[in-house]
Amino acid sequence: MITVTPSGAALGARITGVDLSKPVDPATFKAIEDALHEHEVIVFPEQRLTPEQHISFSRQFGELEEHLRQDRCRPGYPELFVVSNIIENGKPIGSTDAGFFWHSDLCYAAEPSRGSLFYAHEIPMQDGQPKGDTLFASMTTAYDALPDETKRTLHERKAVNSYFAGYTRERNGAPRAALTAEQRAKVPDMLHPAVRTHPATGRKCLFVCEAYTTELVGLEAQESSTVLEQLFEHLKEDRFVYRHRWAPGDFLIWDNCATQHRAVIDYELPLRRRMERTTLRGAAPF
Ligand code: OGA
Ligand code: MN
Repeated sequence: MITVTPSGAALGARITGVDLSKPVDPATFKAIEDALHEHEVIVFPEQRLTPEQHISFSRQFGELEEHLRQDRCRPGYPELFVVSNIIENGKPIGSTDAGFFWHSDLCYAAEPSRGSLFYAHEIPMQDGQPKGDTLFASMTTAYDALPDETKRTLHERKAVNSYFAGYTRERNGAPRAALTAEQRAKVPDMLHPAVRTHPATGRKCLFVCEAYTTELVGLEAQESSTVLEQLFEHLKEDRFVYRHRWAPGDFLIWDNCATQHRAVIDYELPLRRRMERTTLRGAAPF
């Protein structure tokens, strides 16, 4: 049976005693799913997975998304989104600036992702230390800790989530390629509850993020941006955050309803980072 060791932070646990390259029996799978719901981010160290094994383990959770940007997926594997700073033959092999702002994956979609499964192939090392950590924040704990007045402001309120706004947001002076009209048409601005209910645990989760949320519907513009800015400051407080230091072979699953994440981009070539992600299909938030 698996061993689950909580990180000691508001979220996050390590799981040992399972080899994800092999079919996982139903009892073990159930224990993994329960651990994900309880700890929100789970880490399986020292896994050795082929792309096929990464995909087939992910499929045990349900259907997978194919990323909007197929130019950032592993050739031949539309379900494997590559996050990497590596350039080959003059072209990036993956998304070079994913996760620059706090977000959850696909929050701008009608049916945001349930969770993501992220596998570390190569981790940049400097002076014996890994670089390129990822920060995770618990949206259940962050919601619970809000003042009652803020909870009342957010009660039954919708927020606008805009892929386009997130995509075009200024990132360290490195502009991104323009989206095609076809790509843009696939991701219209989306209204979602600012606080959503976790479909498995019933817990309330703060569902606004720095990367994509542009507006709280029904508030005057100034108040909307003031409240959003306060929430963005609140949700990244240390007491809600787990910081993951990567080792090659780490396989992480994060819950996109219960958490948000952000990349720490503190390395550059020739230090290489290469990660791959599958993305679980989710359902409309409520
Ligand atoms: C992602 C993402 C962060 C990172 O792949 O969804 O946001 O640290 N990645 O690479
Ligand atoms: Mn992400």
